[in-house]
Parts: sequence; C-alpha cells; structure tokens
Amino acid sequence: MSDLLSTDRVVIVTGAGQGIGRAHALAFAADGAAVVVNDFNADAAQAVVDEIVAGGGNAVADGADVADWTAGAELVATAIREFGGLDTVVNNAGFLRDRMLVSLSEDEWDAVVRVHLKGHFVVLRHAADYWRAQSKAGAQRAARVVNTSSGAGLFGSVGQGNYAAAKAAIAELTIQAAAELGGYGIAVNAIAPAARTQMTMGAGEAMAAQMAPPADGSFDAMDPANISPLVVWLGSAAADVTGRVFEVEGGTITLLDAWQRAASRDKGARWEPAEVGAVVDTLVAESPAPVPVYGAR
Ligand SMILES: NC(=O)c1ccc[n+]([C@@H]2O[C@H](COP(=O)([O-])OP(=O)(O)OC[C@H]3O[C@@H](n4cnc5c(N)ncnc54)[C@H](O)[C@@H]3O)[C@@H](O)[C@H]2O)c1
Repeated sequence: MSDLLSTDRVVIVTGAGQGIGRAHALAFAADGAAVVVNDFNADAAQAVVDEIVAGGGNAVADGADVADWTAGAELVATAIREFGGLDTVVNNAGFLRDRMLVSLSEDEWDAVVRVHLKGHFVVLRHAADYWRAQSKAGAQRAARVVNTSSGAGLFGSVGQGNYAAAKAAIAELTIQAAAELGGYGIAVNAIAPAARTQMTMGAGEAMAAQMAPPADGSFDAMDPANISPLVVWLGSAAADVTGRVFEVEGGTITLLDAWQRAASRDKGARWEPAEVGAVVDTLVAESPAPVPVYGAR
C-alpha cells in the first residue's frame, strides 16, 4: 500500500515561487497531489511548475495577487478548471515592510495587513464558496486549509508591528474559520514556521549567520523543506485536527496553546478604580508569565 497522503488531491499553494511556499509545492507534488503554484512573481511560479513537471509531477502556475478579490476567485477557478476540483489551500504568500511603530507609514501598514490578512481571507473565502456548494450538492470533500501565521504574530516582534498584527489576526481567523466551516467538511489549521528564505535572510547578518547550513553536513534545521511534511499532513484527508496552530522549525513540531483564561476574581459587584490595582497584582502573580516578545530588551 502507498504511504502517499495526497494522491488524487488538488492543492493550491500561494506564494510558492520561492522559499517555504516553493518547498510546500514540491512536497505536495512529490506526495501525489496536482498543485496550483501561485505567486505574483509569475516567472518564479512557472519555474517551480517546470521543476515539478520535469520530476514527473502535475502542476500549473497562477500569477494572482492573493489579496485581489477577483484574482483570488480566478485562482480557485483555475484549480477546478485544470484539475477538476479543489481539496486543499495553503495560504503562504506575503512580504515584510519592517519598521518600528513610531516610524511605520500608512502605506507600510496597509500593504502588509493587506497581503497577509486579506490575502488569507480572499483565497479562503472563494475556496469555502466552492466547498460549501459541493457539500450542499452531496459531494462533500475532505477540504483542508493551512494558514501561515508567525512567531511574530503569536508573541510579538520588535520592529514588525504591521506584520505581527496581521499574523496574530491570521491565527484568530484560523480558529474562527474552523468553527464556522467544519460543517462543510473543511478543517482549518495554521503554522508558524521558521526557515532560511529571502524573507529571513533580509533580517540582517546575525540572523543570516544563525540560519546558514551547517558546514559539517549535519541536519540543516533551517532548510524550508523541513516545514512541508506537517503542511502536507495538515492538507490531507488524514488530518483530524482543526482550529489549531503549530510552530514548526527543523525537526520540531510544537502545538500552540492559544489564548487561555488565566487567574480571575469576581467581586459580585462593580469594582472601584482604586481597588483594581491590587486585584491585577494578584491575577498577574497567579498566572503564567507571557512569552517574551522577539527582540525585546
Ligand atoms: N521564513 C521564515 O522563517 C518565516 C517565519 C514566520 C512566518 N513566515 C511566513 O511564511 C510565509 C512564506 O515566507 P518565506 O520566508 O518563504 O518568504 P519569501 O519571501 O521567500 O516568499 C514569499 C513569496 O510570496 C510571494 N508573494 C508575496 N506577495 C504576494 C501576493 N500578493 N500574491 C502572491 N504571491 C505573493 C512572493 O513573490 C514570494 O515568492 C510568509 O507568510 C511568511 O510571513 C516565514
């Protein structure tokens, strides 16, 4: 029996012209899926398709800007037209415009929130339209969505306020979508990856040195291909989880615990402002300390 999880599945990977998305597209194709390789760098998307096809796989390129409503609809339509349906969406596309909050411009805020948060919603929404129609027609698919959050979104990252806010919202969108779409057979999860890509290599020499492949040929923990096995599984019919966020780096997969209620006090009446300080001190003392923000001193 084959160990492949993706045979006969049709998968869209956004931002798959390079980096982590490219690794996902190659991994899904190697696992037997037909892949729509999206990237608004259309030449890069086509190069990944050529690589997949040269290896005997099945793929087509798509040059949509994922945050464009019409182009996002066309991306989903392309999968259905070219491969007869759609099973999995991996939302991965995005870029950075890093700056401290006090220097962040309106354009930098809008561009980053648009590409990540709206870019995730647009493709999710058009895919969900299709999957809901399939479900109502009695042809429900084992639909899967894998979103891409970030440690910056989960814990904060100094100098990345626009990106961290968008990635935090993507984690919440994942929980929201899982709750609303489960009835149509759609499971929605997210990853927070770490890998050596153009995005991380642009973060300065210290980061680049930390991420370099080991000179002795030992396990290259920062290879983007390390991220894809979890994504291939989450994108398969075998994935029996939804509404979850996983950190993934090298050989480590970590389940995130999301927001949890910690300590609480009920006075049974309205608090006086002057009483609140002592109560907050107690709540903080009784609750777990927050995970430190990346880059905070
Ligand atoms: N590399 C990491 O360590 C890391 C850490 C946390 C989160 N992430 C997230 O993982 C994802 C992939 O990152 P990466 O490191 O591979 O980056 P990358 O820059 O190498 O690749 C991103 C790709 O997305 C494409 N893209 C950008 N905007 C697009 C749009 N509007 N429509 C279609 N394609 C678009 C780019 O052309 C590029 O090919 C991103 O969402 C990123 O925020 C990466």
